Amino acid sequence: MGDFEKLIEKALEAKKFAYAPFSNFRVGAAILTESGEIFTGVNVENSSYGLTICAERVALFKAVSEGHRRFKAIAIATDANEPVWPCGACRQVLFEFSPDGELVVITRFKGGKTASKKLSELLPDGFKFKMEREGHGS
Ligand code: THU
Repeated sequence: MGDFEKLIEKALEAKKFAYAPFSNFRVGAAILTESGEIFTGVNVENSSYGLTICAERVALFKAVSEGHRRFKAIAIATDANEPVWPCGACRQVLFEFSPDGELVVITRFKGGKTASKKLSELLPDGFKFKMEREGHGS
């Protein structure tokens, strides 16, 4: 099984832990580090709807909080009939750690079908804070 196939399987497995009592839209995610480790995440909804966090950010934050900052790919698994791509907020959060846009985003949907895009296709001009440009030290 290739790295990406395994990543998709992990996202699919994680989906069962999604906490989505409000939308009933379960999402699992799995992110692959440069060093070959995988961290999973699920969407965690909240009674105060706006505090919900997406599966992609949970997976990324778990990895970052354990010392990882370089990533090859992220897989998302849903039960939707068509491909689901990360929301705008998640794209920007992923961009922070993949500003070259080379991160591969894979989405698995109903029937075991998959589609993939580079982060650069999903977010062509993300924001990256650059000390120099922002005038620090001047
Ligand atoms: N959601 C994700 O976890 N990832 C996505 O890419 C799209 C949306 C979640 C947030 C919320 O719990 C539910 O899906 C419906 O928006």
